[in-house]
Amino acid sequence: MPVITTIEDLRVLAQKRVPRMFYDYADSGSWTESTYRANSADFQTIKLRQRVAVNMENRSTATTMVGQNVAMPVAIAPTGLTGMQHADGEILAARAAKKFGIPFTLSTMSICSIEDVAAETGNHPFWFQLYVMKDRDFIERLIDRAKAANCSALVLTLDLQILGQRHKDLKNGLSAPPKLTIANILNMMTKPRWGLGMLGTKRHGFGNIVGHVKGVENMGSLSEWTAKQFDPGLNWGDVEWIKKRWGGKLILKGIQDVEDARLAVNSGADALIVSNHGGRQLDGAESSIRALPHIVDAVGKEIEIHMDGGIRSGQDVLKARALGAQGTYIGRAFLYGLGAMGEAGVTKALEIIHRELDLTMAFCGHTNFKTLDKGILLPGTYPTAE
Ligand code: GLV
Repeated sequence: MPVITTIEDLRVLAQKRVPRMFYDYADSGSWTESTYRANSADFQTIKLRQRVAVNMENRSTATTMVGQNVAMPVAIAPTGLTGMQHADGEILAARAAKKFGIPFTLSTMSICSIEDVAAETGNHPFWFQLYVMKDRDFIERLIDRAKAANCSALVLTLDLQILGQRHKDLKNGLSAPPKLTIANILNMMTKPRWGLGMLGTKRHGFGNIVGHVKGVENMGSLSEWTAKQFDPGLNWGDVEWIKKRWGGKLILKGIQDVEDARLAVNSGADALIVSNHGGRQLDGAESSIRALPHIVDAVGKEIEIHMDGGIRSGQDVLKARALGAQGTYIGRAFLYGLGAMGEAGVTKALEIIHRELDLTMAFCGHTNFKTLDKGILLPGTYPTAE
């Protein structure tokens, strides 16, 4: 077993252990993947200010996201098909998040259902991410199920009314459960650990959807399926209606533009997430870390701002925080851990990020995450609102 000390180590192991169709699904962006790459690359250009002879004792990374205590400002992002990276993946990731003291967000497109996760985490509050589908009765029922499961925030995704094209998914014929083509069977035969796990669980389809929507027994290809089910007509009127029906903390995901950020404020949501969906939707959009200061400048005093996209280390979390994000989300970083080693791998990913965050904060001369701002960044190296 290799010694794992970075998120990249987990990625390498996940690539070995997870069937290509699902590894590729997690790891790709749309079209040329330029936004996907920029999300991470733009973090690297931001430089930190090293400070010395500052008392570094008694450090804390604890803070809040939408008023809820978090051990560090990192939530597990909602990711589709998580239970295909590893058997019962959503349950395992939710458990790891609970033990660590950070929020886990369950995707509408999860394999384990809302009820499965609630039952297996002892009704510990988690967050639920909502996609708006054409069948509004189904959406109402989903919202009610999330309430009944004690979910403590609803993350409403606004940037996936239609699905971005990811070439590898089309080439791999991505579906859940996987289509048993010769190529897929041959590839899965090289992943015995994954296969054994899958034999040990009943959860192979979309747990929140199959059996809850008339006519949906299983998914054909992901792209055909979303084209049929997702509502391209989603608008701000729907946000208002969903907010009312939900009645709890509401977080709007997928904001990149200042005008949309203002509309998000007007909607009365509790927080917005600066996000380009991990570079999986509009290829050519700006990286999230570059979009962040514009949004913070425009509406940062009126709404809590979170961000995701490109976070692969605790240093990235610190930089996002310095630029005004109250919280961040990790998607691929936890999926690599899950695909590599199940629950232990997610815990490992969280430990790696936490350690990097804590040490970097100390090197920058801070002991408390709550008081940290742009002052830790080297002027001229970080994006601004100008
Ligand atoms: C969402 O479900 C995605 O595939 O990005």
